[in-house]
Order: sequence, then structure tokens, then C-alpha cells
Amino acid sequence: EIKGFIFDLDGVIVDTAKYHFIAWQAVARELGIDFTEEDNEALKGVSRKKAFDLLLSFGGLTLTEDEKEPFLERKNRHYLALVDQMGTGEILPGVLPFLEVLQRKNYKTALGSASKNARRVLDRLNLTPFFQVIIDGNRVKKAKPDPEVFLLGAGELGLPPENCLVFEDARAGIAAAKAAGMIAVGIGKRDQLSQADLVIPGFYQESPEALLQRLLRL
Ligand code: G6P
Ligand code: MG
Repeated sequence: EIKGFIFDLDGVIVDTAKYHFIAWQAVARELGIDFTEEDNEALKGVSRKKAFDLLLSFGGLTLTEDEKEPFLERKNRHYLALVDQMGTGEILPGVLPFLEVLQRKNYKTALGSASKNARRVLDRLNLTPFFQVIIDGNRVKKAKPDPEVFLLGAGELGLPPENCLVFEDARAGIAAAKAAGMIAVGIGKRDQLSQADLVIPGFYQESPEALLQRLLRL
């Protein structure tokens, strides 16, 4: 029985994935690395450091930790400049009505994001009050696909994993949810998220009540 819903942030609630991509692309350009939108799939859901290591590996480059630091800093500054221009209009379609239905029906909700900027993004979108628990990149030691982020979320909600459903747009995130023993719903395309129990393109396709009923049957 599903009693709690755990949301990834980037790519599920808001399309910050495109801002991460823009900021990484600028870094890739500086380093002369060819970096496509398809390559970017692997960077979704993983920590900033790990994403940069992946980017470097695409270019066959190795840097020392000290050499990496300024790039990581510039990437984040660029990303935050984009985030700070965001408004509530960038909440992905159907997300707010779905959160409102969950709130009205007293379901438990948590955020489970690898991003150290998760609170800032939620605040910009005025969505912070919808989450009882926020687990972000400052709290987890092991990045997705490790289940840590979702297990912490379930723990703080006071629910066993099997009573939780996770929404994720990233391959690593779906893997993390399954490793946690939770139901995993992919947001996006089936071929990218084959491990998910269900894949939906977004929250907009049906009424929030109908979507909730469909999810409760999983
Ligand atoms: C999310 C995104 C990743 C990003 C990570 C870290 O999981 O999907 O693309 O690398 O958060 O974000 P941060 O805001 O801490 O750099
Ligand atoms: Mg994501």
C-alpha cells in the first residue's frame, strides 16, 4: 500500500535539467569536450562531482581534484544564475495540482534530490510547504543509484520503503528507487527508464485524481 510519495526535483518537478545541461556545456566547451544532449542523460541524477567526472571521461581527460575545483565552482555559479531567473511558471505541467491532491488527501511527501541547491529551487517555485521532508545533496553521502537518498526520505517520513513510491526522470534515480525496495515511476521516455514500474511523460496527461488512482494500483 502506498502511503508516501518521494519526488526527485530536477526533471520531475521542474525542468532544471536543461539549466544543468547549459552550464555543463559551457564547461565542456572550455575544455574542448564534445558533449551532446544524449551524453547528458548519464549526468542526470548524479552529484555535481560525479557528473563532472563523467564529463571528463567523455573527453578522455583527467584532472586533479585541485584542478577540478574552479570548473565545479563556475558550473554552479552559471547554474544558479539561471535558477535565480526562474519563476513559478516553470513548475512542470500538472505537478502543482498533483501535489495539492496529495496534500488534501494527507499523503506523506518527501523530496529526494542529489542537488545541493534543492531548497533554493523549491523556494523559487514556492513549493517548499508541500514537502514534509527534504533530503538533498547536502545530506547524502552516496549518490544515486545508491538508495541512500530515498531510504533517508522514507525513514524521516516514518514509512517502510515498500509503502513509498518514487518519481524519477533519471536512470540512476530509478535504479536507486528499486534498490531501496520502492515503487519507481519514471517521468520521461520508456527506453531511457526501462527499470521503472511505470513510465509516464509527465503529470499532465490525466486529472490528478485519476493519476493518483492509477498509481495506487501499482
Ligand atoms: C540533480 C541533477 C543532476 C545534478 C545534481 C547535483 O540530481 O539531476 O544533473 O548534477 O542534482 O546538483 P547540484 O545543484 O548540487 O549541482
Ligand atoms: Mg532528476
